[in-house]
Amino acid sequence: MTNKPIGVFDSGVGGLSVFSELYKLLPDENYIYFGDTINLPYGSKTKEELIKITDNIFDFFKSQNIKAVVMACNTTSAAAYETLKDKYNFKIYPIVQTVSKEIAVKNYKRVGVFATQATINSHAYKKEIQKYNPNCEVYEHACPKWVNIVENELQNDPESINNIKIQLNLMLKNDIEKIILGCTHYPYLISILKQYAPEELFINPAKDFARNIVSDLKANNLISGKKDYEPIFYVSSNPNQFISASKLFYNVEQAREIDISKSLIK
Ligand code: DGL
Repeated sequence: MTNKPIGVFDSGVGGLSVFSELYKLLPDENYIYFGDTINLPYGSKTKEELIKITDNIFDFFKSQNIKAVVMACNTTSAAAYETLKDKYNFKIYPIVQTVSKEIAVKNYKRVGVFATQATINSHAYKKEIQKYNPNCEVYEHACPKWVNIVENELQNDPESINNIKIQLNLMLKNDIEKIILGCTHYPYLISILKQYAPEELFINPAKDFARNIVSDLKANNLISGKKDYEPIFYVSSNPNQFISASKLFYNVEQAREIDISKSLIK
């Protein structure tokens, strides 16, 4: 049982910001990473579409006989986790719900969230944080262009920098104590963000999320400690672009293209 792989997924390279932290803590596990690049960006999809997409990915992971799935994606955690959480018999770790709890106990009074449009529409961060800390004001702000900036490696283009500056200035008007990078792609932009605001202002939830996953796997006796293979990376399109954009968080050397809708024909 414990030797079964851990599945990790996102719409693209964003989830690698989480995967890299998990891998540091648990290097001796078997991992299967899925980047759903054909459906990117998730942020502009409806809740119904996101539930379908996530269900399909969970089915794929089921066919890979995994022991746990890490939703290294805020958008699907916000839109699909509640609906699908009891449908499968493996562990499911959603980033938004896990991280909100951690942030709530820090007792901040005013917190900002940068996230995709779908995550912001769901108000998942606000609801989850206020569940544990009702006095925390949560300012949610969508940055719809940022995922494409990261996937296409446009971080240093003047137009991208301008967009990042505009969103940041809008958020800073709220006099917040911290800004949660509520999309796993956004930590790729920290080198730009920190030029315009102190780096300590930003919360990259990946480390805390990974730590939580590890302690839950331990508590459930699901740690392997012995791997059979190096992490496997699958994408639903454009493996070369995925490999190229991955470099900041994990040096992906090989990614295989897979059509999971076909692989699911039963
Ligand atoms: N990186 C994902 C997230 O954390 C999805 C981004 C997207 O594809 O829009 O929300």
